[in-house]
Amino acid sequence: MTKKLFIKSYGCQMNVYDAERMTDVLKPIGYSVTDRPEEANLVILNTCHIREKAAEKVYSELGRLNREKIKRTGKDNQMILAVGGCVAQAEGAEIVRRAPYVDMVFGPQTYHRLPEMVARAHRDANVVLDTDFPVESKFDHLPEPSAPNGYSAFLTVQEGCDKFCAFCVVPYTRGAEFSRPTTQVLAEAAHLVAGGVKEITLLGQNVNNYHGSCDDGGEWSLGRLIHEMARIDGLSGIRYTTSYPADMDDELINAHRDVEQLMPFLHLPVQSGSDRILKAMNRRHSSGDYRQIVARLRSARPDLALSSDFIVGFPGESDKDFEKTMDLVREIGFVQAYSFKYSPRPGTPAAAEPLQVSEAVKSERLAALQDLLNDQQLAFNRDCIGKEMNVLLERPGRKPGQLVGRSPYMQAVQVNAPESLIGSLVTLAITDAHGNSLSAHLGSAPTGPFVSEKRAIA
Ligand code: SAH
Ligand code: F3S
Repeated sequence: MTKKLFIKSYGCQMNVYDAERMTDVLKPIGYSVTDRPEEANLVILNTCHIREKAAEKVYSELGRLNREKIKRTGKDNQMILAVGGCVAQAEGAEIVRRAPYVDMVFGPQTYHRLPEMVARAHRDANVVLDTDFPVESKFDHLPEPSAPNGYSAFLTVQEGCDKFCAFCVVPYTRGAEFSRPTTQVLAEAAHLVAGGVKEITLLGQNVNNYHGSCDDGGEWSLGRLIHEMARIDGLSGIRYTTSYPADMDDELINAHRDVEQLMPFLHLPVQSGSDRILKAMNRRHSSGDYRQIVARLRSARPDLALSSDFIVGFPGESDKDFEKTMDLVREIGFVQAYSFKYSPRPGTPAAAEPLQVSEAVKSERLAALQDLLNDQQLAFNRDCIGKEMNVLLERPGRKPGQLVGRSPYMQAVQVNAPESLIGSLVTLAITDAHGNSLSAHLGSAPTGPFVSEKRAIA
């Protein structure tokens, strides 16, 4: 009998990638994916610990799932309830205390051991807890990935972080920095492309600090890896996320100039425009460094569109500090961004700072920053009207007859087009702009999947 698996992922793209790999690990022991928790025999919440709100969601979801679990007690379709991801890593014991009905708790570095954990959960009434940082890399123990189910895919190349920004839990939940060997990465990329994938986003918490070992004993930087990936026939787009400003090296910047498949969009978190706050955050860049890095990137790739992350209300942030963030945003110009109120996280140095900013001030600053960022995003989107762009059509859109894809600049683009074009790279004429997306119609003849494209906007 096949058993059903339901995984719900929260947070970052790496969790999306991890969920796919968990599916691969569980397939050989008979689990197939369902999108309905009501029929699942194994439910995994793949959690995020980055801000308090993200972590709290898990507990309310667990309460709901437990009601379903209770209904099935004693029947032959019992449910195993598991918590994975970064909340599990950071507060495994707390989960067991608050939700004692949970059967398994495991961190992001142990999911290659899932079959063993599931077997133990069946045998043993006690909770199975596995939040080690094993010496072996999970990547060496995962099965060959199954066939991809879309045209764009994530590929984790680097994981963990040694930067210890004063607000951030990632170094504690994902562990020390680790880069996957180049041959492993290239093999996975080739496998994805052979399965129909046309665009790959390389993932890492510090992806631009990638330094994967290669067969000749040396190491490749991310720039070098991107050059090599671009040689894979049929791969029309490469992206990477998330980058740390101080790790932006010449080889990577030059890749933006030289590698046509590397999309002209970069997510480069700055967090704040105030040098005082950046220092208190333990970021290894000043606002001036950030401006210079952006200038170098833009001289390599003039149409590069930038995105960023911002935190408002970090402990000690004054009105003047916040104004410096607003100045930086006005000066650089972002096409999209994520901004957050500072959320104290247990165990991080900033959480113990005495000068916490009030909730009201945080809300006020966040609203002002988001107004500015939204204006910039809409202005950029409006600038695209009348231009042609090459877009990989990925799936049906919101309305019947529509397909949706991503522009080179990461905007979602909706177009009326036949379903037969899903998976094709087509030239679209942009007709309308909205806050978060573009509308388009089919432009000059569709270019077909494997045609190497010229830059649409230069
Ligand atoms: N380089 C990392 C970024 C980690 S978290 C990665 O891609 O995995 C993503 C963003 O969340 C950060 O850039 C930061 O802006 C925000 N963030 C992290 N910790 C936070 C906290 N304690 N409060 C508010 N925002 C936070
Ligand atoms: Fe977090 Fe800073 Fe690393 S934001 S992921 S500690 S670079």
